[in-house]
Amino acid sequence: MKELPKVFISEPINSKGIEMLQGKARIVIAPDTRKETALELIGDADAAILRATTIFDKEVISKGAKLKAIVRTGVGIDNVDIRFAGENGIFVCNTPGTNDETVAEHAVAMILAFAKQIIIMDRAVRSQNWKERFSPNQIDIKNKKVGIIGYGNIGLATAHFCKCLGMQVIVYDPFIDHTNLKVVITDDLEVIFKESDFVSLHCPSTPLTYKFINSRYLNLMKRTAYLINTSRGDIVDEAALVNALAENRIAGAALDVFKEEPLASNSSLLKFPNVILSPHVAGSTKESNERIAIAAAQAIIDTFNGKTPLNVCNMEYFSKAQKI
Ligand SMILES: NC(=O)c1ccc[n+]([C@@H]2O[C@H](COP(=O)([O-])OP(=O)(O)OC[C@H]3O[C@@H](n4cnc5c(N)ncnc54)[C@H](O)[C@@H]3O)[C@@H](O)[C@H]2O)c1
Repeated sequence: MKELPKVFISEPINSKGIEMLQGKARIVIAPDTRKETALELIGDADAAILRATTIFDKEVISKGAKLKAIVRTGVGIDNVDIRFAGENGIFVCNTPGTNDETVAEHAVAMILAFAKQIIIMDRAVRSQNWKERFSPNQIDIKNKKVGIIGYGNIGLATAHFCKCLGMQVIVYDPFIDHTNLKVVITDDLEVIFKESDFVSLHCPSTPLTYKFINSRYLNLMKRTAYLINTSRGDIVDEAALVNALAENRIAGAALDVFKEEPLASNSSLLKFPNVILSPHVAGSTKESNERIAIAAAQAIIDTFNGKTPLNVCNMEYFSKAQKI
């Protein structure tokens, strides 16, 4: 009997996706997200499903000589060398539309957590500090201004939720058509930082956005304003952010993503009470994980059936004949 194709999975996915692949593939789930582990297990894999942490660079992709598809759960594909994969006839797909609103909800949760000082108040009650109820730091968010950088699927959903909460929305995204938008859009990134009470990042990690939120922009923020990052860690110059926090130049930051993940135990970010942290989970809920796993499994099944899967991100780099 012909051996089933092997699917390498870098981190556990929702059981719905596993069920879809059962009987069609041999599934190997990596014990950890290290590159060494991927190198060890990718050799005879026909396809791979990755989350954001495992790096699929030239070395890993070359080792996966039988690979036909690499599927990124979620949208960011910055951990995969999509050009090299394409040049080798390997589809790189993602699963857009499966967690846009999920990430937007997380960004809004962070905004609300700051506005209502939820974490500070929780710590206060636990440490018998009832006087924290006289803190002047709680604010209404109605009529507060949120500046959204990157007005794609997640930026749009975040803007929608913020508007529903009575917030004013201002957007910066130089790569979209500015006509017929239902929000205020600016061409000047400085305006976002000067005017916003909350700045929420929703652009991808690219060579152009690397550390582009730097001291120049952080210095423009109001002292009462908060930075929210559910996008990618390397978009923010982390050292500049630490300085801004240490000098109380901003009111706080909520971060779901970091330059290096997991966040190092000696990171300066850990020492600020006005920093809210989450371990890159903005896009992960029970519901979104199910949607993502189904979309990822379908992309693998389509590839094995000789079809082009949905949401291929590297078609432009296909130079050789496909392997299938
Ligand atoms: N934390 C999480 O769990 C999580 C989950 C999903 C996505 N993300 C991140 O969110 C990002 C956005 O996702 P999306 O689905 O909205 O992507 P998208 O492609 O729909 O939108 C990204 C938008 O950013 C804009 N953009 C690009 N460069 C920009 C720049 N220099 N300045 C301003 N805008 C710029 C693009 O024009 C586009 O409109 C992803 O790239 C990913 O890194 C994080």
